[in-house]
Amino acid sequence: MGKKVQRYFDQDSVSLVTSAVRRMKGKRPIPRFPRRAQIQTRTACNARCAFCPNTTVGDDLSQGTMDWDLFRKIADELTSHDMDEIHPFLMNEPLWDKDLPEKIRYLADRKKPGTKIKINTNASFLTEGTAKRLIDSGLDKLNVSFHGVRPEVYEYNMGNLKFTPLLRNVLRFKEMIDKSPNRKPGLRITMVKTRDIMEDRENIKAFWAEHGIGCNFRPLGNRNNKEVEMKGINWEEWRPYTWCKRPFTQIYILFNGDCVLCCCDWNRTTTLGNLRHNTIEEIWNGKAYKRVRDLFLNKDRQDLLCGTCLYTR
Ligand SMILES: C[S@@+](CC[C@H](N)C(=O)[O-])C[C@H]1O[C@@H](n2cnc3c(N)ncnc32)[C@H](O)[C@@H]1O
Ligand code: SF4
Ligand code: SF4
Repeated sequence: MGKKVQRYFDQDSVSLVTSAVRRMKGKRPIPRFPRRAQIQTRTACNARCAFCPNTTVGDDLSQGTMDWDLFRKIADELTSHDMDEIHPFLMNEPLWDKDLPEKIRYLADRKKPGTKIKINTNASFLTEGTAKRLIDSGLDKLNVSFHGVRPEVYEYNMGNLKFTPLLRNVLRFKEMIDKSPNRKPGLRITMVKTRDIMEDRENIKAFWAEHGIGCNFRPLGNRNNKEVEMKGINWEEWRPYTWCKRPFTQIYILFNGDCVLCCCDWNRTTTLGNLRHNTIEEIWNGKAYKRVRDLFLNKDRQDLLCGTCLYTR
């Protein structure tokens, strides 16, 4: 059976009785603080994956690294709340930030016990030295985006990255985790469902199982990007989102403190506030977020990025 989709409602715009009825029907009030956060500690990625908007974003967007003062302000507020997960990456390659292990350490030393810290990486900067610093950082989960176990499939999907040295990085990291005292972070391989990945999925599962590493296949999205949509790499037909929990549960923070709609907002079309001027709590409960959620809940999505967002299951 498929996972039940959790739906949310705005508890401030309904009476107590309506709120109670909605809860009985299994809906949840929008949380007063995000359950998850993504933080872009620096912009940009060194890879050119076939399915990723990274290849097409405008040169006119400002680029940079989040300064430590802003990072600490954000981390201090996030870690003072019970959250499900904090992801110190967003539309970038996180290990390109040379301070990332120290930033993870800062989060890990302060977070509530139930909060997990996770990154996704393409593993190209996962040298032995960085691997050691990550193992020592308190990171809970590390997903490697590794699209294919045949060099030609991998190198088509991941553009300029090379199969053999990056596989070596992943397998060395696995060995180092296995030898570490608490066997952390949890390591997984993650892929999006492009056609050539799905055609080879049994072989891929067997390959990673042999190395003792779990893998998963996640829905491919167009990420609001016509070039990704038109490439013909989708395994199934594109379909619109009937529901999306991102605006209700997760905040997305750029290197300069701007909060954008989600991980599909590569062109920064929807800025919901800036964390140099406001707190996360203020932005999350502020007018701009309320407008987005109202439009989404009223199925009035053509004025939102959500109106052109497609995915394949
Ligand atoms: C944008 S990347 C950033 C982190 C890192 N560079 C990496 O690739 O793991 C985060 C995740 O988004 C996924 N992703 C990229 N393009 C996607 C798309 N069109 N649909 C769904 N997921 C996508 C990647 O596979 C990766 O796991
Ligand atoms: S999926 Fe990750 S590694 Fe690939 S281009 Fe996008 S950001 Fe870079
Ligand atoms: S654009 Fe809208 S529907 Fe698409 S992932 Fe983002 S929040 Fe969800």
